[in-house]
Amino acid sequence: MKITVKKGNALKQKSPCLVLGLFSGKLKSEQLTQLDQQVAGTFNRATRSKEFTGAKGEFLLLHGGSETVAERILLVGLGKEADFSLRALRQVTSSTAQYLAKKQLGSFLLDFPQIPLKKTDLAERVQTIAEGLLLADYHYDRYLPKDKPGQPAALAQVGLLIADGNPAAAKEAIAAAEAITGGVCFARDLVNAPGNLKSPEYLAMQAVAMAEQVGITAKLLDRRELERQGFGAMLGVAQGSERDPYLIVLEYRGGSENEQPIALVGKGVVFDSGGISLKPGEKMDEMKMDMGGAAAVLGTLQAAAQLKLPVNLLGVVPAVENMPSGTAIRPGDILTSLSGKTIEVLNTDAEGRLILADALTYVARYNPRYVIDLATLTGACIIALGNQAAAVLGNHDGLIRQLLKAGERSGERLWQLPLWEEYVGQIKSDFADVKNTGGRAAGTITAAAFLQAFAAQYKWAHLDIAGMAWAEQGKAGQPKGGTGFGVRMLINYLRDQK
Ligand code: BES
Ligand code: MG
Ligand code: ZN
Repeated sequence: MKITVKKGNALKQKSPCLVLGLFSGKLKSEQLTQLDQQVAGTFNRATRSKEFTGAKGEFLLLHGGSETVAERILLVGLGKEADFSLRALRQVTSSTAQYLAKKQLGSFLLDFPQIPLKKTDLAERVQTIAEGLLLADYHYDRYLPKDKPGQPAALAQVGLLIADGNPAAAKEAIAAAEAITGGVCFARDLVNAPGNLKSPEYLAMQAVAMAEQVGITAKLLDRRELERQGFGAMLGVAQGSERDPYLIVLEYRGGSENEQPIALVGKGVVFDSGGISLKPGEKMDEMKMDMGGAAAVLGTLQAAAQLKLPVNLLGVVPAVENMPSGTAIRPGDILTSLSGKTIEVLNTDAEGRLILADALTYVARYNPRYVIDLATLTGACIIALGNQAAAVLGNHDGLIRQLLKAGERSGERLWQLPLWEEYVGQIKSDFADVKNTGGRAAGTITAAAFLQAFAAQYKWAHLDIAGMAWAEQGKAGQPKGGTGFGVRMLINYLRDQK
């Protein structure tokens, strides 16, 4: 898809379709009077009959008379002006793109950059709109026939009307959206890849290929090296699978030479069967998404490198498969982690925290400024927040505050849960330093309390994205499957760090 910037009067532009966004109850203006003349009174007739009121979700497609410059005009309801937001702007852009694509209209002109929106500038609105377009164009079709009849048109040429706005700023915002959604779609592809394809080695090779493409360094620690260094918790999870584990280490250096890096750590369980503590069969297929944290980290590194962000980044992904077998760890086993701390494994399905324990210990070597981990860690997080927000917890309020802000701004919402000292009692073990489950109560918090034991040396935040990495139901801009959640929020956060 090519997204371009257009200046000037909307009604004077040639295009297969001109798209105008209208708030409910705001259906009178000079522009709309002119428009009505161009379409021979059909606009006024449609609003008088309430066929179009400007309510959210409404579309009215008008075909031009002899006077229209565009071949068609699509009116899009934006809902109440007071309720409108960047989030709503991204959504309405995606749903408009999908509406037109279904009508085989892949090229059109959008006036959305001109929609007034408090506390935003043109660049931010243009970036949001371009994201809405690019995300609407995403499909995971690797295993589907190429040309199925009745498929929506691919988006081809989309013009953004910016009236008298600054075209250079708008173009830069489009380029940013392309880099960011490129990272999101890379992450979605990784999550959607089926387990038979997606071995830990596959994830590692995808990371290496991406690193080469954007010019960042990649290093892999294989089983032998992990054994040599003592990644006992990670190896414990990996030992039930025929497939070898890898620790993926990526470095992007956009900041100054001796600036401490920001470390991003992503849970990379390519398939989580639960191990000996086997999961029930229902929806087990979805557990191919248990590397959603890893995908977010890889997508963010790709986007950050393409945006040439002025920061140093470290990306670390422990990639393993969690399987039951004769060589698998059992409930009751005790593992010695990379940190030296011993862990009693009470449930082999609480494997994410085991691999993260070693990854969090490992990143301390890089003397990170901040460490942020992302993980599809607990079912309890879905009970608490559903599919509307990721949980954020950590040991540094300033970092958490900045992440919450980036979440709000990007539309990838986070909600803080407490990590009070009192919860630590729930993960005390009789036979080891810690145990890997804390009982049913406060499952997301006790998982974070476990991680905190391995993240004490630096400023750290943990995002539980269990409810956000996978969409059970598709919507505009987000088909069923991998979401790429975290990339947009993290880039927003990183752009705020100079
Ligand atoms: N990968 C799961 C968590 C999960 C569940 C993610 C549903 C996405 C959707 C994780 O490894 C897990 O199984 N956690 C257990 C922990 C428990 C045994 C302490 C859980 O949440 O049940
Ligand atoms: Mg599990
Ligand atoms: Zn898991």
